[in-house]
Amino acid sequence: MAALASPIKAALGKTAFITGASQGIGRAIACRLARDGYDISIADIPPAKERVAEVVKEIESYGRKAISVTADVREPKQIYAAIDETISKLGPNLFISVANAGVTQVKPLLECTPEFMENEIRLNLLGLMNTHIAAAKQMVKQNSGGRIIGAGSIASYQNLGPYGATKFAVRGFTEAAAKEWAQYGIRVNAYAPGIVDTPMWDHIDRELARIENISVGAAKETRVKRDIKLGRIQQPEDVAKLVAFLVSEEGEYITGQTVKTCGGASL
Ligand SMILES: NC(=O)c1ccc[n+]([C@@H]2O[C@H](COP(=O)([O-])OP(=O)(O)OC[C@H]3O[C@@H](n4cnc5c(N)ncnc54)[C@H](O)[C@@H]3O)[C@@H](O)[C@H]2O)c1
Repeated sequence: MAALASPIKAALGKTAFITGASQGIGRAIACRLARDGYDISIADIPPAKERVAEVVKEIESYGRKAISVTADVREPKQIYAAIDETISKLGPNLFISVANAGVTQVKPLLECTPEFMENEIRLNLLGLMNTHIAAAKQMVKQNSGGRIIGAGSIASYQNLGPYGATKFAVRGFTEAAAKEWAQYGIRVNAYAPGIVDTPMWDHIDRELARIENISVGAAKETRVKRDIKLGRIQQPEDVAKLVAFLVSEEGEYITGQTVKTCGGASL
């Protein structure tokens, strides 16, 4: 394992709330912020419970507090309840909120049903907006500023069906929230990864294999070779590094941005 970063003094005693952190990018962000010194609250859906328990254990091994709360981000009431539970268990110290949970389906537009599109919008967009607002309300109440981060994508810049439409909207909402909440000392940004080695991309790969009639693994391999200028697939930890920077003092003059971290895949 790589050497652990030392905790940042300013992070100690503060909480980061992260949705969809049982695996992939969310898990890497949760672990990185814990190593930086934050206590962590992970909000995820019931089927992810066992994986979340492992993340909680890993974070506790860094000497930080970690809790698991249940929330399907498609249900606003569950998001508000998850924030309330976080505050009641870890104290009124919410400093970071990461709306990471998201879903993608790969389908030609002519095969997209209303139900299919509604699910992506409820999860990727309404879920993010409700998470941001619920977290900001708590941060405003605490009156000590905060950092709000959302999951964008290179699809926030180059449209990829209904998924891309939700991620374009994430970019717009990030700007709007940053503008309104700067007065409270809250900075709002989003990360825009490319092809990250997570279960989500394994799913995309399987879907593309079916659509393009190629073998499983081929779609990912071809796109990594063709599109990623830095020559390797992105690891979830690469995204976590950007988040750690954006929430830190180093990022103090950055707000309203959807920052690409994609190894040049968008070039
Ligand atoms: N993997 C990539 O290449 C990539 C690229 C760009 C952007 N992103 C974005 O990053 C985010 C994380 O992606 P990932 O690849 O780690 O995904 P993933 O599918 O590997 O993990 C998603 C997590 O979200 C949770 N989740 C699913 N539905 C949920 C719901 N309704 N409520 C709460 N939690 C829910 C899952 O249990 C899981 O923990 C997503 O928003 C995704 O769109 C991913």
